[in-house]
Amino acid sequence: MSATASVESLTKNEAAQELARLLALISRANVEYHQNDEPQISDADYDALKQRNAAIEARFSDLKRHDSPTENVGAAPSDGFGKVPHAVRMLSLGNAFTDNDINEFDNSVRKFLGHQTKKLEFTAEPKIDGLSLSLRYENGTLVQAATRGDGAVGENVTANAHTIQDVPQFLKGIPNVIEVRGEVYMSHMDFEALNVRQKKDGFKPFANPRNAAAGSLRQLDASITKSRPLKFFAYAWGEISTPLADTQSGAIARLKILGFQTNPLTQICTSPTKMIAHYRNIESQRATLGYDIDGVVYKVNDLSLQRRLGFRSTTPRWAIAHKFPAELVWTTLEAIDIQVGRTGALSPVARLSSVTVGGVVVSNATLHNEDYIAGRGNKGDDIRGGKDIRIGDWVQIYRAGDVIPKIADVDLSKRPNETTPFDFPTNCPKCGSDAVREEGDVVRRCTGGLICPAQAIEKLRHFVSRAAFNIDGLGAKQIEAFYNYDQLAVKEPADIFTLQTRDLNSFTKLANRDGWGGASVKNLWQAINKKREIPLSRLIFALGIRHVGENTSNLLAIHYVTWSAFESAMTQARIGEGAVWDDLIGVDGVGVVLAASVVTTFHQSAERASIDRLVVQLRPKDAAKPTSNSPVAGKTVVFTGTLEKMTRAEAKARAESLGAKVSGSVSPKTNLLIAGPGAGLKTQKAIDLGIEIIDEDGWLVLTKDT
Ligand code: IVH
Repeated sequence: MSATASVESLTKNEAAQELARLLALISRANVEYHQNDEPQISDADYDALKQRNAAIEARFSDLKRHDSPTENVGAAPSDGFGKVPHAVRMLSLGNAFTDNDINEFDNSVRKFLGHQTKKLEFTAEPKIDGLSLSLRYENGTLVQAATRGDGAVGENVTANAHTIQDVPQFLKGIPNVIEVRGEVYMSHMDFEALNVRQKKDGFKPFANPRNAAAGSLRQLDASITKSRPLKFFAYAWGEISTPLADTQSGAIARLKILGFQTNPLTQICTSPTKMIAHYRNIESQRATLGYDIDGVVYKVNDLSLQRRLGFRSTTPRWAIAHKFPAELVWTTLEAIDIQVGRTGALSPVARLSSVTVGGVVVSNATLHNEDYIAGRGNKGDDIRGGKDIRIGDWVQIYRAGDVIPKIADVDLSKRPNETTPFDFPTNCPKCGSDAVREEGDVVRRCTGGLICPAQAIEKLRHFVSRAAFNIDGLGAKQIEAFYNYDQLAVKEPADIFTLQTRDLNSFTKLANRDGWGGASVKNLWQAINKKREIPLSRLIFALGIRHVGENTSNLLAIHYVTWSAFESAMTQARIGEGAVWDDLIGVDGVGVVLAASVVTTFHQSAERASIDRLVVQLRPKDAAKPTSNSPVAGKTVVFTGTLEKMTRAEAKARAESLGAKVSGSVSPKTNLLIAGPGAGLKTQKAIDLGIEIIDEDGWLVLTKDT
């Protein structure tokens, strides 16, 4: 049977096979679209797959599968995987690009620890370009395998991990619980062979080994994973009942003894110079390693120091990834499109003649803003030697890691005759409103606000995105369709939550839409209702306020704890004045620009009304303190005097990681003062206020083991 045989010509057997193949293709496209945000097939091709699937089901109704894509409204296929909360979060790594970045990394570690002159060891190992996997063993048996997911919750891929040869099923003589973490990847040889097979079987080949590894691991059918040659390097761990060793290198050596593959290029380095030398050494072997790597990871070797250094919100302080320079390629700039973001920013996008950069086909690149196109940097300085970018130009593209490709240079000698500088629009291309640049801002913004459909759609897309409401079955594509669906439109976030009840016929209307059905609508209602109860940090993030990212939303949620406290503070706050404003900018990590942006949003009547309409539909959950079992969780602490066993930065970071709030001054709100030698006025004030005072050793005892 050919992959494009007409539906009428299929035998029943062939039809069943074809439904299975289509399910695999559609599921994969869903992953690429919903989870990777990187569709590999066009919308038209996706629709054609779904139509073919529906046509076969119509002809052979008894062959319709229980997991049929027609019953699954483009829902993220991760629905098929169980969710696994990670006992210890799976974080990512900060990036370094230059030798100087490595010196700075070494410096920042020393400064944090107060180790200016002491010996400090780092391990250096290749950064494998695959996807991370956490393997949980209980009493020596592999019981669970999970992908990273959003770091806090991953997907259960246990059945799939059982099929990977490099993953031991049993471990001898190890503690009750150990979660071994590492990278699943595919070798170049296996990747080439797999693609030959893919093409032969009528499937689209994978763009690169990383995509192939990801697509192979995240298969709902583990027998497909089994047929794919996946490999695994162990390099870290999560929950563990007894430490593996005192050092990173010792722990890796033990993992090797336990039967894991560990990377043979791992080395201990005693200075930034030696780290950089090892980086160059690994870089020189890159082409002949037989698998993709995209840099070198350095980790503080001493695990007690790793513990002291701890984590920033998403990355460890004790490790960094030194990335290899991006590959550069030349191609033609065919057009410049203007996209309008959720905050109205007009973002120019370069449409390129497709070209492969670092194993990925690239046809778009960011152009940042109008100054960038004109050859000017953010401070009015020349970039690219002042060369502007014009449609038709021969441009040099680079792609560093997963970031959107960028334009590095323009070859003026190849510029076609009769080109003119790009004329940046001064009206929004989507709604026609004026697009203005505020004093000192490099970005031109549409002034249409909520009347601009592009802004409204982008706001909605942001609202349903993974880190925000993440409603099953309501991804970017579906929410846009709802925006344009006049019979039951979603024009703002609140409308999502009134979909089910605002129209008596909402169920029938939706169930009769193409590609929908009763089951899909029921699932959607359920998924929406499930999200009415929402963590405060997600709600704040979902509002899509300019400058307010995931981290800041978290900080704001932890500070204000409840929606009503947050909302009433933002309502009362006046930019630049008063106690409420001071309290807001007193939140560590909240600057004036961000604070002003939040306050402004709450004072704009249309925006505010839209937020109010949303919140009445929800039950925001109070923010949890990060570590509730610590004796200092939820307390406000003040450090004063000299600390001798740790730096101020370490003390503050540790206190915050245990859920305490660190303040610079003593007030009636203070619960605990940690006073080192030389403490003065603050101690007196604390005595006057009857606040508990302890010394540094007392603090270390109090916060040990928590
Ligand atoms: S350590 C707490 N070591 O890179 C951080 N990560 O960009 C633990 N990766 O999510 C990660 N090779 O998927 C570490 N040798 C290595 C690695 C490595 C690849 C991946 C990993 C991580 C990502 C961060």
